[in-house]
Amino acid sequence: SDLAIGIHDLSFRTTGLVLSHTELARCNGTDIAKYHQGIGQRAMSLPTADEDIVTMAAAAAAPLVERHGTDRIRTVVLATESSVDQSKAAGIYVHSLLGMEPHVRVVEMKQACYSATAALQFAAGLVHRDPQEQVLVIASDISRYDLDSPGEATQGAAAAAMLVSADPALLELTRPSGLFTADVMDFWRPNYRTTALVNGKESIAAYLEAVEGAWKDYQRRGGLPLEEFRAFCYHQPYTRMAFKAHRQLLETCGAQADEETLDHALAATTGYNETVGNSYTASMYLALAALLDDADDLTEQTVGLFSYGSGSVAEFFAGRVRAGYKAHLRGEAHREAIGSRRAVDYGTYRELREQTLPTDGGWYELPHETRGPYRLAALRDHQRVYEAA
Ligand code: CAA
Repeated sequence: SDLAIGIHDLSFRTTGLVLSHTELARCNGTDIAKYHQGIGQRAMSLPTADEDIVTMAAAAAAPLVERHGTDRIRTVVLATESSVDQSKAAGIYVHSLLGMEPHVRVVEMKQACYSATAALQFAAGLVHRDPQEQVLVIASDISRYDLDSPGEATQGAAAAAMLVSADPALLELTRPSGLFTADVMDFWRPNYRTTALVNGKESIAAYLEAVEGAWKDYQRRGGLPLEEFRAFCYHQPYTRMAFKAHRQLLETCGAQADEETLDHALAATTGYNETVGNSYTASMYLALAALLDDADDLTEQTVGLFSYGSGSVAEFFAGRVRAGYKAHLRGEAHREAIGSRRAVDYGTYRELREQTLPTDGGWYELPHETRGPYRLAALRDHQRVYEAA
């Protein structure tokens, strides 16, 4: 059918603390150029004791609910790989914090950094079935690697919330999708671990193989040719990865991959991720937010989106930017979320990493540290207690 379905509104939030790579490099003896140029990262968001994926998710989604109400939202999908419970969907806490009505289905999705894209496609299918319905899709993650490991410099945190609807104000999702799945152990986190395990070099190779695989599938299914795309939003575990990925895509097409071509396609997509760090499921959507917020007029232009989740599953798809989209953007609030984080020094960062939430089922009040609108207030009988801050 000709019904346009896609992203009607997009909002993200991050955590309250930030560690700069200058500070990290100063204390771990790394040449700062490795961080600033080599991986393209400048800072990483860190949570306060009373922030987690739920508080970030609710903070990201609240402005959407404020602007559009909840009447038409019949489904909430929260995508994460840093879940707080093995059974209960984190989205139910968000549904409650946002005061949504009970006639809603809420579910959590997981496949490493990819699952928000699965959620988006699921949402598009639901809206296609009933164009009156809106779906709230939230990607929320805190990425944590072992201290002093190569991955440490690529930590970060953010949540991106999207309202998916018919006749969207920002981005129309187009068909087909190019898909690629491979059973690889490039990055994973067993249930008993709080930090991810990663084979760094293998993860880069697996990501690049997925770029080629998903793009070829997209082409086989009648996707748009390379020349049609104005910009590309890649999953950005660190922002230089987008450059590696796009070079791979261009080479797959037999196209020239010089710096100017790469910059034209990517430069506007990295501004948020380079200072927030890896936000896993939210990362590609922060790239999209940066592009929409910061690029010159993109009206009716086509944007390529490449979503990658280790393990691995990848999807390449295209979106068309809608006329009048600029009136609906939230660039100022996004810059404020990033700019208002409190800087911590390396010592404080190491102390924060030692703090873990008790698991004995006792009653604990958490200190009020966040400046965000929602907080994890307490733990009681193995339950998490959230409240408006
Ligand atoms: N000046 C300038 N550049 C420098 C430099 C210096 N002094 N020192 C090093 N560099 C460059 C290197 O040349 C390298 O660039 P290239 O990749 O273009 O060659 C870059 O900086 C990184 O240097 P290393 O490869 O030596 O870094 P490392 O081995 O310490 O770690 C990493 C890099 C493997 C990405 C590591 O950060 C890591 O394990 N990260 C987590 C895993 C990850 O993000 N994987 C990405 C794909 S998987 C995915 O996308 C899913 C996900 O979200 C995790």
